[in-house]
Amino acid sequence: MSNIEIKNKNKYNNLNFIKQLSVKEILEIDGYVRYNCDISASEEDIKIIEKEFNNLKRDKYALENTQRHRAYSNAIILPWLNNKIVWLPVIIEEGEELSIYDQGNNNPEHTEVRYFNAISQESKDTKLLNDLIISDFKNTIGLNMSSPIFVGVHFVNTFCDNSKRQGVASPDTLHQDGEPFTFAHLVSVAMIMLMVE
Ligand SMILES: [Fe+2]
Repeated sequence: MSNIEIKNKNKYNNLNFIKQLSVKEILEIDGYVRYNCDISASEEDIKIIEKEFNNLKRDKYALENTQRHRAYSNAIILPWLNNKIVWLPVIIEEGEELSIYDQGNNNPEHTEVRYFNAISQESKDTKLLNDLIISDFKNTIGLNMSSPIFVGVHFVNTFCDNSKRQGVASPDTLHQDGEPFTFAHLVSVAMIMLMVE
C-alpha cells in the first residue's frame, strides 16, 4: 500500500506506529483516505465497464443546464455467506430497467425517491465490479456482520462540452450522501477543449 497518502504524520508518530498502515487503519484514524485499489481485472471486464460508462444515459434528475449521466443499482452483501453479493431486483418501466434510490433527507435537491437507470446485468456480473465492492467492504469498520449490508453502486459521468452547461454532482458542493461509508473510484478522465462563447 505504498501509494497511501498519510495526511497527519505527527498523529501517527504519536501513536508509535512503526509499520506501514493499511487503508482501513488510516480510515479509522482520519475518517478518509486516498489510495490505489490493488485488485486485478481482466481486459474483458475492463472493456465491459468502460463500454457502459461511455454509453451512460443522461440522469433525468440532473438540472437542465448541467450534464450528468448515470446508472445505479443496489445490492446486499451477506457477510455470513463468505460476503456473497445479491443484486436487488430492478423495476421495468416503459421497457427501461430502473433501480430505486432513496436518500431520505440527505440531499436538499432531491427529497423524493429517485428511479435511476439500472446498471446492466453484464456489468453486475463482472468479477471486477464484484471484487471492487468486496474490497471496499473489507475496508469498512463497525458494521453489523450479522445483518445484510446494503450497497448502492453509482456509475456517474459528469462532463462539460459547453461553457454554459457544467458537469456537476447533486448537490454541487462537498456533501455526505447519508451512508456510513462512501468509496469513489475513478474510471477515466479526459480533457475536452471548450469554445467559450
Ligand atoms: Fe452524493
